[in-house]
Parts: sequence; C-alpha cells; structure tokens
Amino acid sequence: MNSPHVSGPLADAAVVGLGVMGANLARNLARHGYRVAVYDRLPGKGAALLARHNQEGHLLLADSVGDLSARLTRPRRVLLLVPAGAATDAAIDALTGVLEPGDILVDCGNAHADDTERREAALLGRGLHLVGAGVSGGEEGALRGPSIMAGGTERAWEAVRPLLESVAARAGTTVCCARVGPGGAGHLAKTVHNGIEYAVMQVLAETCDLVLRRTDAGHAGLADLLAHWNKGDLESYLVALTAAAAAHVDPSTGAPFLNVVDDAADQLGTGRWAARAALDLGVPAEALAQAVFARFISRDVEGRAAVRSAVGPLRVTPAQSGAGPAETDLRDALLVATAVAYAQGLDTIRAADAACGRVTDLARLTGLWRAGCIIRGRLLERISDTLAVRPDTPVLLAAEPLAEIVRDGSAALRRVVLDAVAAGVPVPALASVLTHLDQLRTPRLATAMVQAQRDAMGAHGYRRVDRAGSYHTRWNADGAEIPLDA
Ligand code: 6PG
Repeated sequence: MNSPHVSGPLADAAVVGLGVMGANLARNLARHGYRVAVYDRLPGKGAALLARHNQEGHLLLADSVGDLSARLTRPRRVLLLVPAGAATDAAIDALTGVLEPGDILVDCGNAHADDTERREAALLGRGLHLVGAGVSGGEEGALRGPSIMAGGTERAWEAVRPLLESVAARAGTTVCCARVGPGGAGHLAKTVHNGIEYAVMQVLAETCDLVLRRTDAGHAGLADLLAHWNKGDLESYLVALTAAAAAHVDPSTGAPFLNVVDDAADQLGTGRWAARAALDLGVPAEALAQAVFARFISRDVEGRAAVRSAVGPLRVTPAQSGAGPAETDLRDALLVATAVAYAQGLDTIRAADAACGRVTDLARLTGLWRAGCIIRGRLLERISDTLAVRPDTPVLLAAEPLAEIVRDGSAALRRVVLDAVAAGVPVPALASVLTHLDQLRTPRLATAMVQAQRDAMGAHGYRRVDRAGSYHTRWNADGAEIPLDA
C-alpha cells in the first residue's frame, strides 16, 4: 500500500459516508473523546461537518480513502454509513485497496444479512474483517446514542466493541450494543426490527385514521388521545412521534399537516426484507407483510384511480355522534396489534436462528431494544423482562405479558375492525392481527378442506384426526382410503 505521509496524532477510527447518520455518528464518537477521521466521496460534506462541529472534539478530514487509511491507528477501524446495496459494495471496494490485513470495517447501514455474509467472506479472503452492525435510532439516535446490533466474528467484534459501546444508548445499566451472533446476524436483527417498525407504524396509522373518520376527536383530539395513551402500556417512541405528527399544523396553509401530506408511502426496503424472511422461513408474520403491502397500495396511484373510477369510490360512513368505536376500544386494539407485531417479528428471528444460527439470544436482543431504537417502548420492555427470566419461552403470544394483553383486548380489536369494515375504512394490518389471533384460537381451521383438496388434486395424502399415519383416498375410483406409509 502506498500511504500518503500524515503528520500529527493518528485517529482512533474513521467514518466513511457523511450523510446525516454518518455525520452524527462521527460527532457522537468525537464527543466521547475519540479522534475520528471522516471521509465522504463528495468533498463538500466533510468540510461542512468540520466547519460546523469540529469544536465538539477531534474530527480529522481525509481527502481520499488513501489519506483516510494513512490517518488511522492499526488495526484500522472504519465505520461505513453509506446507502445499502451498490453504494456499500463500491465503498468497500475502494477501501479494500487501501486497508491492510487485520483492519476492520463496520457496516452500519441497513444491509441485507446475505450481502453482509457475502462481503464478510470476500474481505476475509484478503485478511480484512467485516462487522455488520444494525444501527437504529435515526439521526437523533446516531448523535445521542443508538441501539446497535452487531454480527461478525468475535475477534472483529472485540476490536470495535469499545468504540461502539461508548456511543450506544443506555437503558439504566444496560448498554444497548452487543454482538447478537455471527456473520449477518446483526443485520438480520435490524431488518426484523424494521419489519416490526413498519407494522407498528401501520397499526398506529390505521388507528389514527379511525379516530379521525369515525369519532369527532379531530386532529387536536387525536394528538391528545395519543399523548394520553403514551402514558400507559402503549408508551413508546413511535406513539410519541405519531402524537407530534397528528398535532402538527402545516405552516404554509394552516391546515393539519396530515391533510396536506401525500399518502403515497415510501420505503427503503428493510420492511420488505423482513416480510420476505418471514415468508421464506414459514412464519405467519402477517402484520409485517400487510404493512409492506399497504405501502405498495398507497404508491399505486394509477391503480387506485382506475379502480375508483371503474368500481366507484368508497365513501366512509361518518359516525353518528358517539356511534363510532370507543376510545378505550381503540387503545386496546392498538395495544393488541402492537403486541402481535412484536411477537411476529420475534418469531421470525427465532425461525432464522433455527434455520441458520443467526441471533440466538432473544433476551439479549430485546435488551438492546430497550433504548435508542425506533421500536423502543414499555411493552417491549415487558417482553424483554419475560425473556430475561424465561429465555426459552416457546410461544411468546401464550406467555405474559402478551397473553394477558390479547386476552383483555381481543374483543375490543374485533369491535374496532368490525366498525372499520362496516364503515369502509381500510384497516389491513389491524384486520390481519384479528384473523391471525382468530386462526390461532380456533380449534379447527378451514385448512382441513385444503388437505382434502390437495389429496384429490395431486394424491398428496393427508393425516387423520382419529389415528396416526398418512392416507390417500381414491377420489376418482371407488372412494376407498388407502394408508400411504404402511
Ligand atoms: C432506524 C430506522 C431506519 C430506517 C428509516 C426509514 O431503526 O433507525 O429503521 O433505519 O431506515 O426509519 O425506513 P423506510 O424508509 O424503509 O421506512
């Protein structure tokens, strides 16, 4: 390697990619006393960061990846905060040319776990290490303390652990930063975190829609209601943020912000990855999937317009005064739906662990989600408490606190969904939670017929309720049943 000469003390770590997240993480490290070399392929970004924030600590501007490498103590520790996908591959390629065996890259972006494992293997071939670290908390979290879920080898993790622990969020004495498993485990954990995030955002959005369309609360009333709920079991970062959004008034028109914001919802893709992981692993995480589908439909502006004009627009029945859902029902329905979203996400992690050894310790993982991350909240703390005492709790929804929440709130959820369906308010995620629970609670499901159909269609066989074994019925002949495994 041909490193440019650098004078002065070397930096403890580097941050590459100085968007809001990278800049704030660099500042967070500098505020904790680290000397941080910073680099962005757009030269203005680093200069702007130093101009505004250099007084917060030691930020050293590098003008190329070679310069960056020369400015670092060894083994070099480089935190990457660039967009997932091709940009991450390009940044890693550029850095591989200047780093040396033993150096460690930490990918703090929202990478797909499979990509992380592919990159880790390629880098190891050159003696370099990769820690895939899921970092949650948005721009505020990056600056004041995010939740960090890391993967990679123990050796690589130990080399970057002090850095990451010092900037992470704290929940009491718990540092919300840990290695949750090898390879892509950290990024898988973050992906599922985001799947839960999508689901909780969607059930919150649907509940807000119902309050606005089926009660006379109005936007100010909705904001008050959310602020009130945020003092109980629903207390969470996302409820607080939703309350603020509901209360916000558009400065240019004076209208409630929710009335002027376009309803076509974007996504960067992690929620879709989480839903796809659940599908691949055979986990019925419908709330996670419905949240993704809801964003797809919202963006299908042409399809929506075409169906509206061909079939006719849906007119929501306004609630006669007091005839809409009760506030307590809305709160309980939201709590049940949030609980089920957490359970579906954690079930996905468990299935991934069983399938490929990614993220073994749910107690530790939910401990990392106690502070700093987007899905933090009181209910999650209670789930984490349960898992800390009984880490092997087999069915989360059948254990406290979730079982009690579902027991107490599922009648309210049914009333809320019934009201929404009757009035014509779409509630895909809330309805999916209700049918998820109904399926779990019904002793006998419609899928008995599916088994019969499969056997009639393809001689796939079926099990019986009254005796062991597999059987086939000769549907097209004498209707007799023959045992398949005799
Ligand atoms: C976090 C968030 C973050 C996410 C964005 C938006 O944990 O800090 O999950 O990583 O990227 O909030 O994601 P979407 O654009 O996909 O909604």
